[in-house]
Amino acid sequence: MSPKTADEIAAAADATIHEVGYDRNGFDSRIDTKTLRSLYLAPAFIKAGAETTNVGSASKDYGTESVYDKDSNKIQYTTFAKFPPVRLLPDAQRKRILVTGGAGFVGSHLVDRLMLLGHEVTVLDNFFTGSRTTVSHWVGHPNFEMVRHDVVEPFMIEVDQIYHLACPASPPHYQYNAVKTIKTSFMGTLNMLGLAKRTKARFLITSTSEVYGDPEEHPQREDYWGHVNCIGPRACYDEGKRVAETLTYGYMRQDGVDVRVARIFNTFGPRMNPYDGRVVSNFIIQALKGEDMTVYGDGQQTRSFQYIHDLVDGLILLMNGEETRPVNIGSSHEFTIMEFAEAVRDIVEEVQKAEGVPNPKRVGIIYNDIPTDDPQRRRADTTRAKETLDWQPRWMVRDGVREMVLYYKQMIDQGKL
Ligand SMILES: NC(=O)c1ccc[n+]([C@@H]2O[C@H](COP(=O)([O-])OP(=O)(O)OC[C@H]3O[C@@H](n4cnc5c(N)ncnc54)[C@H](O)[C@@H]3O)[C@@H](O)[C@H]2O)c1
Repeated sequence: MSPKTADEIAAAADATIHEVGYDRNGFDSRIDTKTLRSLYLAPAFIKAGAETTNVGSASKDYGTESVYDKDSNKIQYTTFAKFPPVRLLPDAQRKRILVTGGAGFVGSHLVDRLMLLGHEVTVLDNFFTGSRTTVSHWVGHPNFEMVRHDVVEPFMIEVDQIYHLACPASPPHYQYNAVKTIKTSFMGTLNMLGLAKRTKARFLITSTSEVYGDPEEHPQREDYWGHVNCIGPRACYDEGKRVAETLTYGYMRQDGVDVRVARIFNTFGPRMNPYDGRVVSNFIIQALKGEDMTVYGDGQQTRSFQYIHDLVDGLILLMNGEETRPVNIGSSHEFTIMEFAEAVRDIVEEVQKAEGVPNPKRVGIIYNDIPTDDPQRRRADTTRAKETLDWQPRWMVRDGVREMVLYYKQMIDQGKL
């Protein structure tokens, strides 16, 4: 029998992978997926007249709950003072961890994991693309602190580890103010490396596959130097990350800072900003709203997509392992954009059918001009991650897309999209 409700669909997906993380290098990062899911599929209700319908997850244990009143077009939030249970760590194992950009898509999932593992987490964010709501379920927790701060300004804190993520990551956001993006990459990284030097904290930067530009080698290994247009519209991000890596290794060689460099490839998952123009969110939202999906170019360009929990596993392994060279963290499974559009369409229909829509409308696919400098092929060579971290992606793209469909569907039902 096929699952009927969002919770049942989520539970069916949960049967595939019910735990993420590893117990390695003296750092146990294992957490069950059910707990993680309860943090992004929060309870939500819609009130229409006398009737109130639950459109979110059934769990009301912690986090926030919202009631949207259709008649008055008002929304009421309730924040629960009860927090998800976190691991109790002895003082010697509990780390003070700074996550810059911790209110963004990747950062919020990393924060969830580190909090559940029992560490003390400080989020530093200027909320340019991130939002307080992504981590609001931790506000008030004794192990958690959120600071509104721009990383281009110095910041003082005592910490053991720094995950430096702060930087807009999607083309519309990083091109919105190209000069600010370069400043964030350069000055933000300089400030955080200075902090790492002073506190002797271990420093991990989230670099990107964009440092390879439009690659002439395929797949991309870490020793490939890249093919980047230094004056194109994407240069503020690509060159910003390249110089951030240069700075990172400068501090390592000159000042002995203990550094880690993750080169992240396309990642997707719940909490991705629905309007940031990235292909996965675009396709899912268009299909959920019954609109045609837009493919740029002929759809034969390829991408490899990794699910957020795999990325967080990789980041934590890298931070706590011994590899100091750059490490690609991404999926090596290549899809054409066209294949991906078709897969998204199928999954959206599957979810809609499971939720009782008898014949969901089959959306079409339309074609638009390809943006300047859009890479044709992109696939991670993850040999180094396998050899040095013993890491490889475990999530099937389909399972991840299903989670994201449920998440966006919930946002649509709540009137947020
Ligand atoms: N998501 C991906 O597929 C992907 C791929 C490659 C690399 N990355 C890298 O991972 C990191 C996180 O990406 P994401 O997808 O979560 O992006 P995101 O835009 O969702 O998150 C970035 C966060 O940084 C914050 N921020 C931006 N500028 C800041 C500043 N000057 N000071 C303080 N905070 C600032 C934003 O408000 C946001 O919360 C970025 O460094 C990005 O380059 C992501």
